[in-house]
Amino acid sequence: MSAAAQSQAQPQVRFLAPEIGAEVTGLDVGGGLDAAAFDLLHRTWLERVVLLLRGQRLDEPGLVAFSRRFGELEAPPAGEKRTRAEGGGAAMPEVWIISNVLENGQPIGALGAGEAEWHTDMAYIERPPTASILYAREAPPAGGDTYWANMTAAWAALPDDLRTAIEGRRIKHDTAYTSAGTLRKGAQPVTDPLTCPGVWHPAVRTHPETGDRTLFLGRRRNAAIDGLDLADSDALMDRLIAFATQDRFTYRHAWRPGDLLIWDNRSTMHRRDAFDASSRRVMLRTQIRGTDVPH
Ligand code: SIN
Repeated sequence: MSAAAQSQAQPQVRFLAPEIGAEVTGLDVGGGLDAAAFDLLHRTWLERVVLLLRGQRLDEPGLVAFSRRFGELEAPPAGEKRTRAEGGGAAMPEVWIISNVLENGQPIGALGAGEAEWHTDMAYIERPPTASILYAREAPPAGGDTYWANMTAAWAALPDDLRTAIEGRRIKHDTAYTSAGTLRKGAQPVTDPLTCPGVWHPAVRTHPETGDRTLFLGRRRNAAIDGLDLADSDALMDRLIAFATQDRFTYRHAWRPGDLLIWDNRSTMHRRDAFDASSRRVMLRTQIRGTDVPH
């Protein structure tokens, strides 16, 4: 057996933080995974909600082929520049570039070099993605770390008063802004989160694969909780996000080129630190189409 085949045959799992995250070593995703290796990845991902594989060598077709093992792919957010033909940096329509790099004065990707607030990807659509996958092609020497929080663990530990306040309610997920705080192309500025365009989802959902109950908060900006006036809704959202994103529920990732992160978008939120705009950060992202309307 070749050395490559042997290491592929013996993957190892290491937890990244007490409540969230696992690194799997010994797998070469671009080389193709057999059913047993993918089953290990899938089980570990469901259990730990964030999966890290370092040292991967993927081009866009390789990332797309691997991503498809998790399900059908969801198109990147509407209104974003994606492929080169649309003015973005991706070769394939399934891939979305997250980057601060400019080519010919134009950004090749989204989110720039600023901070991205806590959010769940595309929570503002009827069936939000099941998973997101981010692959680091270029990473800055410092900054741009990404954090994930386990919303199932947060729900399980939620104090009774917060549990009573939010259970059975819905949250409005605004469509107008990105997680970097910029207005999407064609969107109108939001004046009233209770009435702005967006989608209502239950604040506590049942995970369709594990059956676990999990908090589903979306993002703080322009969120609104039904049945509450805006001041009470804002105060409750602040308390929920502060509780759910405590260090004990989170994993912080400092990126290296070749890192591949896969997260369960049904049971996590994530955010990103800002970084020096003069350094380069180039990430390829895919997202797996949601199969369920959250309930
Ligand atoms: C994202 O929110 O999908 C991007 C996170 C990152 O740039 O690290």
